[in-house]
Amino acid sequence: MSRIFSGIQPSGELHIGNYLGAVENWVRLQRQHECLICIVDYHAITQDYDVSALQRRTHEMAIGLLASGIDTDDCILFTQSHVPEHTELAWVFMSVTPLGDLERMTQFKDKSKKQESIRAGLMNYPVLQAADVLLYKADRVPVGEDQVQHLELMREIARKWNARYCDGYFPEPKAQLTRARRIIGLDGSAKMSKSLGNTIGILEEPESIWKLLRPAVTDPARIRRSDPGDPDKCNIYSLHKYFGSEDQTAEVASNCRSAGWGCIDCKKVLSEAISVHFRPVRERAADLRANPARVREILGAGAAKARSIAGETIREVREHMGLREGSASW
Ligand code: TRP
Repeated sequence: MSRIFSGIQPSGELHIGNYLGAVENWVRLQRQHECLICIVDYHAITQDYDVSALQRRTHEMAIGLLASGIDTDDCILFTQSHVPEHTELAWVFMSVTPLGDLERMTQFKDKSKKQESIRAGLMNYPVLQAADVLLYKADRVPVGEDQVQHLELMREIARKWNARYCDGYFPEPKAQLTRARRIIGLDGSAKMSKSLGNTIGILEEPESIWKLLRPAVTDPARIRRSDPGDPDKCNIYSLHKYFGSEDQTAEVASNCRSAGWGCIDCKKVLSEAISVHFRPVRERAADLRANPARVREILGAGAAKARSIAGETIREVREHMGLREGSASW
């Protein structure tokens, strides 16, 4: 049976881009496979962040994931920094990773452009990501398209380590892409992302979903109410495809083409569909929010399970590398 691992940054808010691009898939996969989901707080510190908010954001992310249907009977949910073996394996992998490969990563190039001085942690981000997955010898990684390059590097790291220390020890994990490969934000141009402020949070109340959708960018060529629109050029239409029934989506498209509906009418229908879709998620989140001790307990239990697998891998890795004898007494 294959083992699945995926990670998400503790941005605090789980938005519909995360949900459609990853989380929805995890909820489905957790029933069919062994599954680990990790809130990657060690990744979050590679860029500037609000220190006083990180714990709260990690907690909120756990609530969002649990409310979305991540079920700890089926899946191990934990916080990365609770399992120090992640950073140990990352160091090990740094010793086999070519610097040039790290410099070539698109995400690193994009992020480092915005920085005056580039920190080594940002460059080594994909090495830590490789450690996350390989620590559990997971072989499938359900992620969005933007992570495909990191997965390629992950396989390269596994190959390099295996070649040097132990043939076939680590698997070469494959990306498992979702149907929603890339969700565009409400600005109609960039990928939906908390840091760009173009998101709709999945726990947003119906009124605030509407407030966010109202000014969202639609087909740029449709200027007047009477202009016919092209649904295929409209980001709002692409969201209808995920939240509406087939009939409703067809109705939206034909009303757009005929200018039967204005963009506002179309957004009202979407707003309703999104708020109905996430109503049970909002309810579960409210229960969890009222019980923070329960959430901490869940993450604690997840970390304990993760550590029992991670500890075993680290013991073997040290042994293969001549670092420490494989005694049971450490
Ligand atoms: N880099 C991933 C992202 O930004 C998050 C992540 C960290 C991850 N470690 C991982 C994803 C391991 C999959 C597997 O989305």
